[in-house]
Amino acid sequence: MTIDSGRATSGNQERLRAAPQSVYTDAALLDEEQAAIFDRDWVFIARAGAVPDAGDYLTAKVGRRPVFIVRQKDGSIRAFANFCLHRYARLLDGCGSAKRIVCPYHSWTYDMSGALIGVSEREGFADVDKADLGLQELSCEVWLGFVFVSRNRDLEPVASRLGALADHLVHYDLSACEDRYAFHEEVWAGNWKLVFENFVECYHVTHAHKRSIGPTNPTSLAEQGPQNHDHFSVHYNPYGPDDMPEIHNQDLDENERSYLHVIGVYPNLLVAVDPNFVWWMMLEPEAIDRTNSHWGLSFSPLAMRGMKDPDGYAEAVRETIAIATEEDKDIVARVQDGAAFGASEPGFLHSSLEVYVKEFRSYLDRMLGG
Ligand code: FES
Ligand SMILES: [Fe+2]
Repeated sequence: MTIDSGRATSGNQERLRAAPQSVYTDAALLDEEQAAIFDRDWVFIARAGAVPDAGDYLTAKVGRRPVFIVRQKDGSIRAFANFCLHRYARLLDGCGSAKRIVCPYHSWTYDMSGALIGVSEREGFADVDKADLGLQELSCEVWLGFVFVSRNRDLEPVASRLGALADHLVHYDLSACEDRYAFHEEVWAGNWKLVFENFVECYHVTHAHKRSIGPTNPTSLAEQGPQNHDHFSVHYNPYGPDDMPEIHNQDLDENERSYLHVIGVYPNLLVAVDPNFVWWMMLEPEAIDRTNSHWGLSFSPLAMRGMKDPDGYAEAVRETIAIATEEDKDIVARVQDGAAFGASEPGFLHSSLEVYVKEFRSYLDRMLGG
């Protein structure tokens, strides 16, 4: 099944149509998406600051597959399937730091590079050579402090496919941003695509974010970014003149001083880059109508050095973004509920403010073979 948004012409204007309701309610489609997208593409997992020191690990899902990332002694980050080679028990939970991994079931033991180093009651496994065994490793790449993982070993590097996006972000040292807040369980009562689509369209900001970013970054000021990139979209939600942020990063140009860059990296990374902070979100589809997100806030060291009360500033940002998240969660749940009707006639997309919803659909169609 493909999910082409469909197009119709009205006079001379091309009319963009929303996806049919069924793409948010058809459980079989989620299986196809897991296989064609989450099993094949780069999937965002976490900020690198989640695992700052050797032995630090973090668990997550690539689609529905349990994985973990772990910082190595040489400073690199590696990713492994999170199951034991003996009889498949999940090895690690949440995040933490360890010198070795001991399976809770029968205590097979692995080092932090994934090698099997201990088998309990060894005599019962005389034919098993542990030197040959190790946890299944996945591709892992860190780009501007964002950690991506893939089961696919043959993909174009993230840095290469997102080079044009990096060009937009050269004045923000995203790799150096301090990863101050990270939340690993934020369950949305909606399909993962709704969460993504909601983030990359600026039509709703004034209307749905009345208690948070709507008044400061109104829809009326939104500017479109470049179009037709295969792996990402970016647009801008500027602050209004009365709500301009303090600026301490002198590298920012005139536009960047007011812009909130709103970025979607397909399939599951959402980022808002403010002059002073980064709001990021990772999506894990759990069911056709349920999505977990890991999200967090990272702060520019230049900005924080310049703030009179950096801790107070960070906390105020966290409060605002938590409200914005609640507002978005309510909207996504409403759309999921409405789509349950099962109408065959598709809805509509704003011809510019929702153009990135269409672009995301083009990506989905490509991956699904449409
Ligand atoms: S499942 Fe891990 S030791 Fe048995
Ligand atoms: Fe929103």
